Parts: sequence; structure tokens; C-alpha cells
Amino acid sequence: MNRHEPTSGRWPRCDRTVAWSALQGHAEAHGHALDLRQLFTDDPDRAQRLSLQAPEVWADLSRAHWDVATRRHLLDLARECGLEARRDALLRGDIANVTEGRAALHTALRAPKGAVPFGAHMGEQVHAELDRMLAFAEGIRARAGGDQPGDIHDIVHIGIGGSDLGPQMVVAALAAWVHPRLRVHFVSNVDGQDIAALLPRLKAQHTLFVVASKTFTTQETLANARTARQWFTEQGGTDIARHFVGTTTQVTTAAAFGVTTTFGFWDWVGGRFSMWSSIGLPIALAVGADAFRELLAGAHAMDRHFADAPLDANLPMLLGLLDVWQRNFMGYRSRCVVPYSQNLHRLPAYLQQLVMESNGKGVDVDGQPLPYATSDVVWGEPGTNGQHAFFQMLHQGSDVVPVEFILVRQPSHRDAEVFSPALRASLVQQHQVLLANALAQAQALMHGKTFEQALSEAAPTASPVVPCEVIARHRTFPGNRPSLTLLLDRLTPSALGALVALHEHRTFVSGAVWGINSFDQWGVELGKALCQDLLPRLDSGDVSGLDAATAQLITRLR
Ligand code: F6P
Repeated sequence: MNRHEPTSGRWPRCDRTVAWSALQGHAEAHGHALDLRQLFTDDPDRAQRLSLQAPEVWADLSRAHWDVATRRHLLDLARECGLEARRDALLRGDIANVTEGRAALHTALRAPKGAVPFGAHMGEQVHAELDRMLAFAEGIRARAGGDQPGDIHDIVHIGIGGSDLGPQMVVAALAAWVHPRLRVHFVSNVDGQDIAALLPRLKAQHTLFVVASKTFTTQETLANARTARQWFTEQGGTDIARHFVGTTTQVTTAAAFGVTTTFGFWDWVGGRFSMWSSIGLPIALAVGADAFRELLAGAHAMDRHFADAPLDANLPMLLGLLDVWQRNFMGYRSRCVVPYSQNLHRLPAYLQQLVMESNGKGVDVDGQPLPYATSDVVWGEPGTNGQHAFFQMLHQGSDVVPVEFILVRQPSHRDAEVFSPALRASLVQQHQVLLANALAQAQALMHGKTFEQALSEAAPTASPVVPCEVIARHRTFPGNRPSLTLLLDRLTPSALGALVALHEHRTFVSGAVWGINSFDQWGVELGKALCQDLLPRLDSGDVSGLDAATAQLITRLR
């Protein structure tokens, strides 16, 4: 087949397959009646049977609302939809992003030097740019915190969306690896309060601005970069080439903007898949070349797993198929990601873009409207904080929301050696409390609490004037609420790389089943275009031709 032809047309639409009909029948007969408590009673091996080890990530899928028969039908669906062939086409660099005529080869960014693991020949340019970027990062790190002009203390990364969320998430996640004399800040919002709050804390001669934009046309990023440059020159800064670095596919546009020190990448790297490219520069600056290479290696290990593991032992495949089952057959509209790791506090935001910008589509690759639902809503916050916010709804609300627990067995504390033994023991104990909370929440979701149990318990904080039966009804938990658990041994660069790659592939899998292009994002265009029209109207007050609601708001804003 021609490498540049779309691969999707050869496969039937998912809802026209035999497996889809079988899944519908299965859902009607069993799906909505699945009771997790009963499933575990009926099958004492269920936990092991539905758990899986992938590189760096162990997954327990046994508390999801599915059973072995569901999995069998989903694997049939994968075969009928040609998922293995589609995966192979993606990995070898066929045109996966059909509407923009591009490959989606983020996997090539993390392939080892000299290797052509999946048949994609991108290696030399990738490693040349990677080596250049890492050498630059090491040069900055070697003099970080120094007194000489040009020695860097603060890195300000300016970017948005895929040019922000990945680096921001990773730098927070790998806090224990961050250079102790470097502070890394992220500015993304066009709201000037974002950058204005930061600038007074900086010294121009010790600050490096990284302007990250695949297109170098993004309104927010250019606005913040202009403000940063204005501030820099007002502070007496002159050496823009040393204090401003661009990471972009458009090095000429960046140079025209005045950013001449650049690290490039390629149009076959999608924005939300770009943290492995030069967009990852702040990661390399923060954690160093070795840790950055480990991050890539962890992702590559997951790529290999995705490429090589048989369907029924392939974690990204199974998770992507489970997503389809939960969305299209169980009718769950959202999923809640709860990392029990403060360092992963930006992961839910990162996954929101990855999943919802990739799979929030209403037409198939040929532009035909889809009669079935696609992306669910992804949301979440770290545990235990979420427990004191939205877990009430997860336990007793009217919607069933599958919860994804992400656990890290051992904490990584920065500078742990400087803590006293007593302090270290205290932190170890806090980690145990954290893990116990995660286990308890998953247990509570599954088991719930019956009315009889609630009635038999004391409720010391309940009002004495409300009958016990009424209180017991408020204290009843339905249970049978699904969850899954992903477990990392430690939150190392390699484990994080694997975790992110797992989610990238999982997202591709569900998108491939739905027959959509997971690599474009036309849905962000309309608002951008309308903004260009409205911006001058805010100045001029011209509301001619506008709808009444917008016109009224413009008048009030003025
Ligand atoms: O929000 C749309 C989007 O195009 C994202 O896909 C992208 O990650 C982000 O804007 C930033 O784009 P750029 O890197 O070109 O500035």
C-alpha cells in the first residue's frame, strides 16, 4: 500500500461490525446488570485475570464494569476494525492525520539512536536535534545559579496547549530530579496577570525565556513573548539571542519575530504529542539530559509493548477498548483521573487535552457524521484532595463515573538525605496514609454500604430530630461503582514516559475504533477566527452585524 494513503478506509465502521452487534447484545443482556461484588464472588481469580503488567505500569482492570466475555467481544471488535494494522501504519509513519496530510510520528522521537524500530526513517534528524538541545540544556545547567551575567536562575516557558501542558506536567512530576538552583515557571494564559505576577520576581540577566509554539502564530504565546521581550529590554537586557530561545517547527517565523536561537521539530509531531521533541526543552533544562533520555526510553518501552504485545495482553489496546465499551455501551460520559501523587497534579489537565482534543470529534475520517458517541469528558484532581471536593458525587451522585486511580508505590522526595530520620519516617508514614486512602476509595466505590449497614451504625453527627431511617438513607452508598488502578513502582522519568505513552496509545486505539482522525483539532479554529473579528470591536464599540447577546456584552464591557 502507498505509505501516503489513508489506511482507515479499508476497515468497516465500528458500528457495522459483527462484534459491535455482539457487544450491544451483551450490554443489554449483562452489561447494565453487572455487579462488581457478584463478579468477584463468582470468579475468585478475577483480580489476577483482569490485571496486566506493561513496561513500568501495572494495571488492575478488574474493578471496571466488564467481564471476560466483554473483553472477548472487544478483542473481536479490535480485529474487525483492523486495529493491529492501523497501529502498524501509525508507527511506520503512514498518513494518520488525513485532514492535514501528515504522519503522527511522536514515537520516532523516542526511538533509540540508530534504531528504526517500526519502519519509520526519522532517526538521524531527530537525534541530531535532540543532541543539540540536550547539549544546550546541559550548558545552562552547568552554570545555573551562578553570579555571572548570563548564568541562569529562572526559566520562563511561554507556550499554551500542547506547547505547555506536557512540559509543565513533567517538570512538576519529576520535582525530585529538578536542578536545585533552577526555578522553572510556565506562562500560558493570554490573561496578562499570568506573566505580570511573575516578572517582578525575575532578574533579566539571570532569566531564560523559552518561547514554545509549533506554529509560532499562537495569539497567547506571541502576546506573552512580546510582553517578556518588552520587560527584558526595559530591565536593560540586550542579549536577546542568549535570553530568548524558540522551540518550533517554524524557525524562520521565529527569527522574524526576533527569536533567533531555536530548536526545531517537524510537522509530523502533533502539538499534544510534542513534549518528546524540542518542546520538551524546559524538561531537559530542569532535570538534565540523562533524565530526559530516560523519559524517552520509558516511552519507547511502552511503544514496543504497544507494537509487539498480543492484543489480549496489550495494555494500551485493552484500555482503549475499555474506553469504547464504557462510552458506547455502558453510556458513561466522563471519567475521573485521580493521581494519588501530588507531583502528578497536572496530569488530569494534560490528559484532558490529549483525550478530548484528539477524540472529541463528530465525523469520521471521511467527514461522515457519526451516529455514536466519541470522547468522554476527562477530569480530575490529585488524591487525597479530590476526596474533599468531588468524591461525594462519585460515591452517591446520580451519574456513574469510572474513576482511574494512579498510585506510586514508593515516593521520591527531593533532598531526602537532608531530612532527619524522624522527619523521613514521618514522610514515609504520610505516603502510607496516601496509599491507604486510595485503596479505601476504590473499595468504597465498589462495595458501597447498604441501608441495613447504615442503620446499624451510630451516626454521632446526625441531627437527633431526624429519624434514624432517614439518616440511614442518606448514609447509604449504592456501590458497584467502577474504577481501575494504574500502579507505578516509583515516579521516575522512565515510569512517567511509559505512563504518558500508554495514554497516547490508548487514545489512538479508541479513536481508531471510532474511525476518527485523532490527530487534527479543527474544533479550535472557529473561536480563534471570531476572536480576530471581536478584538477591534472591543476598542471601537462597533457591534453592527453581531448577535444581540454578543453586542450587549461588548457594550457593557466598554
Ligand atoms: O488549541 C489548539 C492548539 O493548536 C493545540 O493543538 C496546540 O497544542 C496549541 O494550540 C498550541 O499551538 P502552538 O504550539 O502552535 O502554539
